[in-house]
Amino acid sequence: METKLLTIAKEIKSNDPSSALEEAGEILRGGGLVAFPTETVYGLGGDALDPEAAKRIYDAKGRPSDNPLIVHIADEKDLNRLASSVPEKAKILADLFWPGPLTMIFPKKKEVPDATTGGLATVAVRMPSHPVAYELIRRSGVLIAAPSANLSGRPSPTRAEHVAEDMTGRIPMILDGGPCDLGIESTIVDLTSEVPMILRPGYITEAMLREAVGEIAIDPTILGLESKTPPKAPGMRYTHYAPKGEMTIIEGSAESVAEAMAIKVRAAKDAGKRVGVLVSKEQTACERADVVRVLGSREDPLMISANLYHMLREFDSLGAEVIYTESFAGEGLGTAIMNRLIRAAGHRVLSAEDIINQR
Ligand code: TXA
Ligand code: MG
Repeated sequence: METKLLTIAKEIKSNDPSSALEEAGEILRGGGLVAFPTETVYGLGGDALDPEAAKRIYDAKGRPSDNPLIVHIADEKDLNRLASSVPEKAKILADLFWPGPLTMIFPKKKEVPDATTGGLATVAVRMPSHPVAYELIRRSGVLIAAPSANLSGRPSPTRAEHVAEDMTGRIPMILDGGPCDLGIESTIVDLTSEVPMILRPGYITEAMLREAVGEIAIDPTILGLESKTPPKAPGMRYTHYAPKGEMTIIEGSAESVAEAMAIKVRAAKDAGKRVGVLVSKEQTACERADVVRVLGSREDPLMISANLYHMLREFDSLGAEVIYTESFAGEGLGTAIMNRLIRAAGHRVLSAEDIINQR
């Protein structure tokens, strides 16, 4: 299949003509797939109410079909076509955070195919704020089911080039609207229980949600905490967001992390490995590493989230076989960054003190 890459202005307005959006809408209405930018990551879109389109999405991603898709809407009224009931708290959250990086889970209507929800009785819905995503949904007239537009298991795409890397030859069209502002996926909140529960942390934080609707629960698996139950969002069960190299998080003070990283980098290089390190601006990185990437300042978590997946992909393209990174545990957006990092590292977390003492 030939994959068409069309550039589109990020700031497109509701009455700006766009032949790219017209072409994309035609593909979607015909049951085909279009990758498009959102404020979080690029999505791989198809008609949410067409089970064949949902199947095409799973095929293109190489994704297990029990992992449900998020349905993207551009008009709050369309929520009633998808959800069989919408609690008051959801209306409050929609008023505050839509359009934006918040996904809410509702009991589904029977019109929503099982192929879209991975057989679940619930449906995930979000209204993106990125003008290209928003206009694509509005102008195509299609409710768009879209997972992140990466091959299953790879880091989510935050630039059209990342989508092209993974999807060329697999889908008919990629809309290039430039780099994504936030860089990590939306916050997912389950509203099917009395107390809403965060299933995936994101830019909309626990504190923001609590201020809006009171008590908020958190899926205990989010931070890789010990839990006997699997994560409630099926997608959080898979190794995810991961670079090809084996990544390890080293926890500790900036000085001890610098020392422990130097020890680890030396050992890996002695073993003939190509080594990457991923650090904040504040962290001294080991100069002997083959690939060094600086995410940004700890003072600016948005810069860190915007850079994260791009840099993980750079380690892949530069052939890093082992990667060491510092810990980004923190409040707010830090929770979401650490959640992705822990999964990218396959839960490998070491203490800097231990590394230094074992030397
Ligand atoms: O920011 C985002 O949410 C991006 C952009 C494209 O909108 N989309 C995205 O989709 O991250 P995806 O498919 O990569 O992740 C969707 C997550 C998965 O972990 C999935 O298991 C969960 O949402 N999910 C979807 N429907 C669900 C449901 N009914 N119940 C629980 N979890 C659900
Ligand atoms: Mg994904």
